[in-house]
Amino acid sequence: MLKLAVLISGGGSNLKALIEATEQPGFPARIVCVGADTEAPGLAHATAAGIPTFVVRPRDYGSRDEWGQVFAAAIQEHGVGTGPEPGLVVSAGLMRILPGGFVREFSPHLINTHPALLPLYPGAHAVRDALAAGATETGVTVHIIDEGVDTGPVLRQARVDIAPGEPEDELHERIKQLERPLLVETVREIATGALQLEGTAAA
Ligand code: GAR
Repeated sequence: MLKLAVLISGGGSNLKALIEATEQPGFPARIVCVGADTEAPGLAHATAAGIPTFVVRPRDYGSRDEWGQVFAAAIQEHGVGTGPEPGLVVSAGLMRILPGGFVREFSPHLINTHPALLPLYPGAHAVRDALAAGATETGVTVHIIDEGVDTGPVLRQARVDIAPGEPEDELHERIKQLERPLLVETVREIATGALQLEGTAAA
């Protein structure tokens, strides 16, 4: 059974999809903790499901690296990234760049979901950037996190057509409707071994 640590910053609809999937009998992974960099509303999904949560705020630390060390240690306390089974860290709406030390601690067992077809539109405003570029399509990417910003090896993608004049929030919601099952299925494939992370990371 693959142990998951899920990291969020916001509403946590991807987290909720992962909780619902991992509660199904036979799903080959379970969530052992949910971490956030702020008092994210989505933490309530974890609490309702009886999953331990923690918040580690960057502003409480002197540097990003120090924050990353404390964040990593909080995950490891739950048995992810320690011992013979590496587990998997899932960044599902964590709106913060993870420092290099954190990435090296878990790599390549560290994935992110991003609302664009990477390498297009990396960063914090992927949906807005796709609209601003006049794109007619965008999508979602699940990828291994490396030390760059949304530059790690792509695992799975799904495409969405952009409707003319479509508002950002509506487009993002349509992306999320594809994103949630894509993330769940990617985690399932990693847990069963159908998708290998070792040797995939470019780093
Ligand atoms: C998701 O669409 C995720 O891809 C995006 O934040 C949203 C979180 O939604 N992440 C990024 O943009 C990271 N650069 P949720 O809180 O409802 O799961």
